[in-house]
Parts: sequence; structure tokens; C-alpha cells
Amino acid sequence: MSANEKRQAGEAAIRYVEDGAIVGVGTGSTVAYFIDALADLKDRIQGAVSSSEQSTAHLKRLGIPVLDLNATGPLSLYVDGADECDPHKRLIKGGGAALTREKIIAEASAKFVCIIDSSKRVDLLGTFPLPIEVIPMARSLVGREIARRGGNPVWRDGVVTDNGNWVIDVHGWQIADPVALESDLNQIPGIVAVGLFARRPADVVLVGDKLL
Ligand code: A5P
Repeated sequence: MSANEKRQAGEAAIRYVEDGAIVGVGTGSTVAYFIDALADLKDRIQGAVSSSEQSTAHLKRLGIPVLDLNATGPLSLYVDGADECDPHKRLIKGGGAALTREKIIAEASAKFVCIIDSSKRVDLLGTFPLPIEVIPMARSLVGREIARRGGNPVWRDGVVTDNGNWVIDVHGWQIADPVALESDLNQIPGIVAVGLFARRPADVVLVGDKLL
């Protein structure tokens, strides 16, 4: 029933949208339900800041204005899905390769509402391979640094992000301290963004239409 829960979560997130808002919008199949529901409110919001070309196309198709984060300044609300979510609302994201823009918008937003189905809930992050966006020339360097830390880096061959970069998926990490790992990986030259959302976790998680 995961598609049904995704739809419920996408529709339930609408209650966080205030009149006149500019809404940060994530990427993925769960967010697609949110965008569909947001279209019903399009005359009551200023528009959206989008985290991917995929979401931008969907928003525009439904007549929702897409705005530039540099022009909007801080946002009140960001709505996005996740690949894994732990009990502290820390996330793995990036299965759709949109992690960098997602992280930028999450950081710029006062409230991050994460919408998931129950299959995304875990006690410990890391069963879903951790996506890392890298500058192409740093792929091998970053791979060696990951291996040195006990991870198994797998290049997502053929995938180019909206920013023109590549993605490495790290298998085999059971992430006991996500804040420490995120901070450590952020120091490696060539890493653009790590798909761990632990330093800035979600504020609210909707599992279907229920609060975590
Ligand atoms: C996109 O890069 C990801 O961070 C998505 O948020 C994540 O993969 C969730 O996608 P679904 O809603 O399609 O499961």
C-alpha cells in the first residue's frame, strides 16, 4: 500500500501551506502527490522554489510559478520525501539524485515537512545506500576516502545531476552517528553534498497522514 501512503502524505502536507507562502518543493514520487494537491491552492500562494528540473516541469505544467531562491530569501516551509527516516527525523535522501538542491532548500527553510510511506522508517540509517554528489574529477579520490572509512562506493554510472555532477552510492554503512559522519564527509574535497540530512533533520515527518 505504499503508493496509497505516499498520496496520503502528499495531501496531508498541504495543511502546512499558509496563504501567501513561497513553498520549497522537493523531488520524487511522494512529492508528486504534494505538487498535485498544491495546484488546487495555486491562487493562494506566491509560488514555489523547486529542487529539481523534474519538479520544476511538474509545477509549471500545473501553473504554479517557480521562483529563484536567490530572489525569495528564506522560506517558511519545505516539503520533501526521503529514502530513509530514523526516529530522530534524520534522513537519507538522494535516491532521485536531487540531494544538493534539496539540501540547499532544507537549509533555507524554517520548517521542513518530510513526507514518507512506512517502508522508509528505520531504526538505523544505512540500509539504503547513501548517495553522495561529487565533482566528476573527484570520483576516484572520494571513492578511496569512503573505502578508508569502511564503505563500499558504487558509481551511479550514466547519471548526471541537474548540477552536471556525478553520484556515488555508498553501500555497507550502518550509520550510528549520522551527524558526525555527515560533518566528516563534508570535509572531503570534491564532495558537493552528502545525502545525510542529520545536521539539519526534518522538523515534521508525515508517514502517510500520521505524524511520526
Ligand atoms: C530525491 O533525490 C530523493 O531525495 C527523494 O526525496 C527520495 O528519493 C524519495 O523519493 P520517493 O518519494 O519517490 O520515494
